[in-house]
Amino acid sequence: MKLKDLFDLKGKVAIVTGASSGLGTAFAEAMAEAGATVVCVARRKDRLIEVAEKIKKIGGKVLVIPTDVCKEGQVKRMVSETIKEFGKLDIIFNNAGITGKPVPVHKYTLKDWNDIITTNLTGVFLCAREAVRQMVKQKSGKIINTSSMFGQVGNALFPTPAYCASKGAISNLTREMAIEYAPFGINVNAIAPGFFRTELGGADAWDEAIKILAPTVPMHGVGVPDDLKGTAVYLASRASDYVTGHILVVDAGYTAR
Ligand SMILES: NC(=O)c1ccc[n+]([C@@H]2O[C@H](COP(=O)([O-])OP(=O)(O)OC[C@H]3O[C@@H](n4cnc5c(N)ncnc54)[C@H](O)[C@@H]3O)[C@@H](O)[C@H]2O)c1
Repeated sequence: MKLKDLFDLKGKVAIVTGASSGLGTAFAEAMAEAGATVVCVARRKDRLIEVAEKIKKIGGKVLVIPTDVCKEGQVKRMVSETIKEFGKLDIIFNNAGITGKPVPVHKYTLKDWNDIITTNLTGVFLCAREAVRQMVKQKSGKIINTSSMFGQVGNALFPTPAYCASKGAISNLTREMAIEYAPFGINVNAIAPGFFRTELGGADAWDEAIKILAPTVPMHGVGVPDDLKGTAVYLASRASDYVTGHILVVDAGYTAR
């Protein structure tokens, strides 16, 4: 097979959750640029429509399905509408997530804990479960979860206990699902990003945060979402068929220290 064919996603159908901003928008664009049909998912319909318009301009086929990933019924509808429209599901990016305010454990409320675990972990479980039900029937599929480098190490800069716990759990859910679904030809991997300027924690927070974060990164400082497009296409394509249960850290050396 030619190298460029290994990365070609023509004819594939991809769902991207959290597509209305940040890394999810970059993943959606990357899927479309590599030839896939993209289903853009998040809660804000207006923002999803903006992303869809951009994707149409680059020639991609796109569908918007507003969905709260914490709501089981909405997640079921997200997958069933995708199948109704396109007949299959090849790729899913379980990417929607929140970070919460920096608060140490002894001051953390149960409500804040539950909010983060429900969105980041239960949301990934619900979306992965619905997707894999379809992929098992197809005997193929690529599941890509967004973990974090803070699923590998503790956060030494700001206290984010629920976030770190949720991302560590996503990484191990990824490994567990990889083993469970290997016999069905389904690859399950995760991307563990370092620091990327997005709207995570609030778009306005980044001007100040970047001053603290950038010097801690060995290479390039804080990244931009486009830095993850290549990783996204790799894990979604034939190029990564022999890779499963892997947590691909993309952090410009932060966790190498
Ligand atoms: N930006 C970083 O530095 C960084 C680093 C590591 C991991 N991540 C992870 O990347 C993922 C994307 O974050 P981002 O940085 O692009 O932030 P972002 O805030 O720009 O994007 C998050 C997306 O998730 C969506 N979302 C949140 N809750 C949702 C829900 N209940 N239902 C549906 N959609 C929901 C938001 O609407 C948005 O589209 C998250 O899982 C985050 O934890 C980000």
